[in-house]
Formats: sequence, structure tokens, C-alpha cells
Amino acid sequence: VSTTLIIAIDGPAGSGKSTLGNALASRLALETLDTGASYRALAAAVLEAGIDPNDRGEVARFARDATIDPGRGHVINGKDYSARLRAEEVNQAVSVVAAIPEVREVLVGWQRRWVLAHGGGVVEGRDIGTVVFPDATIKLFLTAHPKVRARRRSLEGLASIERRDRLDSTRVTSPLGAAEDSWSIDTTALTVEDIVTMVIERLESQKQGSER
Ligand code: DC
Repeated sequence: VSTTLIIAIDGPAGSGKSTLGNALASRLALETLDTGASYRALAAAVLEAGIDPNDRGEVARFARDATIDPGRGHVINGKDYSARLRAEEVNQAVSVVAAIPEVREVLVGWQRRWVLAHGGGVVEGRDIGTVVFPDATIKLFLTAHPKVRARRRSLEGLASIERRDRLDSTRVTSPLGAAEDSWSIDTTALTVEDIVTMVIERLESQKQGSER
């Protein structure tokens, strides 16, 4: 039985995954892994290489040949893409790149190695509870009213986040979705502290249940 603490947080753009993830990580002394950042960095690197994001074969080859820094998923082939992760062209390309199975295979492998090397963590994305860590200690699926999500991602705009959510939810490989045993939380009207308290309580009762 694994005692490694893995907290999986999935949900659409602007549902509050990073904010909750960071708050939980500091409460539990864990590190956070924002898996979206490496999908974004890979998309930025693909664009920079002059590859059409829709060219599945070329993107797959690029992903398989890429070297991703073991500790920092936004560093690809030795280059740090952190300043470009939220660029408009990356917003446009990332969901297309992320739908390619070979891209997911490469990044999921990297994510599992990261968690192993860090002895657990708070991992946020779209397929963490369903595919990457189906045995996570706890799986959260966050939702929020579209208006609130748009406000949280004001620079991107509602039309763009809705387009990404549609692409992310309808792709064939690992679509965005709640795992059967996940806990869905609507973050529209809750504070971060409210949710942290709820999650810590649930983790404690789970722990007591497993010790009994
Ligand atoms: O979390 P984010 O908005 O930064 O993620 C950017 C994109 O990356 C998202 O629209 C889809 C993709 N993504 C994914 O397919 N799987 C993940 N686990 C995380 C992100």
C-alpha cells in the first residue's frame, strides 16, 4: 500500500486549480506540479520551431525528440519558456498540441517521474485523476461559473477559454473529465480557505478510516 501523498486536481480553465493547489501544498508541505505549464511550454517550443501545431506527425516527432528538464517542465531543449506560457498564440495552439497522443505519452511519463522524484505532490491538470494518477490519495474536480472563470482569466477572454475547454473535453485521448471517485467542488462562491479546510478534513477522515 502506497503512503505517498498525491493530490490530483482537475477541472477546466479558471476553475481555481492553481490557487487551491498552492494553498493545499503549503498546508501539507508538498510541492505543486502545474502540468498545464509543460503542455504550454511544448506548444511554445513547437511554434518556435516553425512547426504547424495541426501537423500531428511533426509535433509527435518533436515531442519524442524533446529533452524536458526533469525538475522544470517549462524548460524544453535547454530553453526556458516561462515568459511565453500565457502568450495568445500559445493559448490558441496548446489544446491542439495537447490532443496528440504522443505528446501526452511523453508528458505523462515526465509527470510520473517528477512525482516519484518528489515523493508525492499536488498535481493539477485535466487528466490527473483519470489517467496520470488513478490511485491518487484524493481526487478533486473543480468547476466554476463561466463568468467567474472568465474573470479569473481576464487576459485570455471567455471565448478563448470556452474554446480550449471544448477542445480539451472532446478530444479522444484523456479528455478533461471527472474520475468516478473524484470529489467535485464548485468554487464559484467558496473561498480558498473554505476549500482547504474541507479537503484537509476529508483527508484526515480518510486516514482514520484506513487506520481503523
Ligand atoms: O491549465 P492550463 O490552462 O495552463 O492548461 C493549458 C492547456 O494544456 C489546456 O487547455 C489543455 C492542456 N492540458 C492538458 O491537456 N492536460 C493537462 N493535464 C494539463 C493541461
